[in-house]
Amino acid sequence: MSLFARNDILSILLTLFLTICDAATNAKMHVNITSDLSGGAPIDLNIHCKTQKHDFGGLVIPYGSYFDFVFSLSILRRNTILECDAECDGVVHNLVAYNQRSSIIDIVCKYGICLWKIRRDGYCYFNNVRREYDCTPWHGRI
Ligand SMILES: *[C@@H]1O[C@H](CO)[C@@H](O)[C@H](O)[C@H]1NC(C)=O
Repeated sequence: MSLFARNDILSILLTLFLTICDAATNAKMHVNITSDLSGGAPIDLNIHCKTQKHDFGGLVIPYGSYFDFVFSLSILRRNTILECDAECDGVVHNLVAYNQRSSIIDIVCKYGICLWKIRRDGYCYFNNVRREYDCTPWHGRI
């Protein structure tokens, strides 16, 4: 057997192993996104979020309401990302609402839940250390 083929088989076995382990541990994360598009006439939030494994599809969150995005984490690979396109006043903004490898993940997401607010001028996450929302104008990323 050539070295190349052996590496392929090892890589397939590793992928299979990681997939089975992830399915077995089945850790869940909650990202709770509140629509806070005030300042002018309050409007609904059009948002589309997806992880590498699950697409939540396009959703409309009415002003003042929230949606709880629940998804599985990859325990061994630790690479799960929840990425969202949020539309405010006709402009689509991209937001990484969850990144398992982010250095501030324990500040943003404690007890398995991350609280976000989407505003007209930017987005906010609940800082679990300072116990208040930290906001960033659109165009920034965490
Ligand atoms: C989501 O956040 C909203 C607003 O902060 C809160 O009222 C609600 O209880 C949260 N929902 C969950 C499931 O944590």
